[in-house]
Amino acid sequence: MLTMTDIKKVFRTDVVETHALRDFNLQVDEGEFVAVTGPSGSGKTTFLNIAGLLETFDGGIYQLDGEDVSHFNDKQRSRMRNEKIGFIFQSFNLIPDLDLFDNVDVPLRYRGFNSAERKRRIEQSLETVGLANRMKHLPAQLSGGQQQRVAIARALAGEPRFLLADEPTGNLDSQMATSVMELLKSINDTGTTIIMVTHDPQLAAEAKRNIQVRDGRVSEVDNVMPLKAATA
Ligand SMILES: Nc1ncnc2c1ncn2[C@@H]1O[C@H](COP(=O)(O)OP(=O)(O)O)[C@@H](O)[C@H]1O
Ligand SMILES: [Mg+2]
Repeated sequence: MLTMTDIKKVFRTDVVETHALRDFNLQVDEGEFVAVTGPSGSGKTTFLNIAGLLETFDGGIYQLDGEDVSHFNDKQRSRMRNEKIGFIFQSFNLIPDLDLFDNVDVPLRYRGFNSAERKRRIEQSLETVGLANRMKHLPAQLSGGQQQRVAIARALAGEPRFLLADEPTGNLDSQMATSVMELLKSINDTGTTIIMVTHDPQLAAEAKRNIQVRDGRVSEVDNVMPLKAATA
């Protein structure tokens, strides 16, 4: 479970002060699939980076998986991030001269797993995203949708409790976006909690719950009935 209470984030430069989050309040329960929408500059990425312990904040309380992480130092944050969180970015962030196997291996090397355990996780996660037969390919030999699947495999290999995705379909055509969304839904069905920022209202509607960020706050919480429950 993830709970943010009155989270504040201010970016300061010599000339301007930007209040990226102002009293940001949100609770996400285990197993949810939350889609986050909102105008450009409203604070969606800032929220996701704080949620994923990539960024610190200036006020409020953040509890993640039963722990108050508000005052964690860098080392505590990166340990918890490595153990519990997987990230997916709009730009895939793959390393061009590493094949798929080695790309998925990158975060696992930081975790101290032995090579047999890493191999098991890499093969299993590439299997999950349907690319087990491409392990020796380079990212450039794949379509955009396939590259995003590799990035998803890389996130899954850590066996995260939370999968955080910032515009994961932003660089994909609609057919590839739909297939990435189907993959995320199937991952959510296995119990992984997902929070996804998206511009696409059609994809957002496929999530179990929608929230909107406006001006650094959660402005609207609209619970969408899960499709399965609706047709049962
Ligand atoms: N590193 C940064 N330095 C200064 N301002 C920033 C930084 N990151 C984000 N901001 C500002 O914070 C606000 C929220 O940004 P962001 O969270 O990226 O919005 P969104 O993802 O919804 O487009 C914007 O006004 C943006 O310009
Ligand atoms: Mg953003």
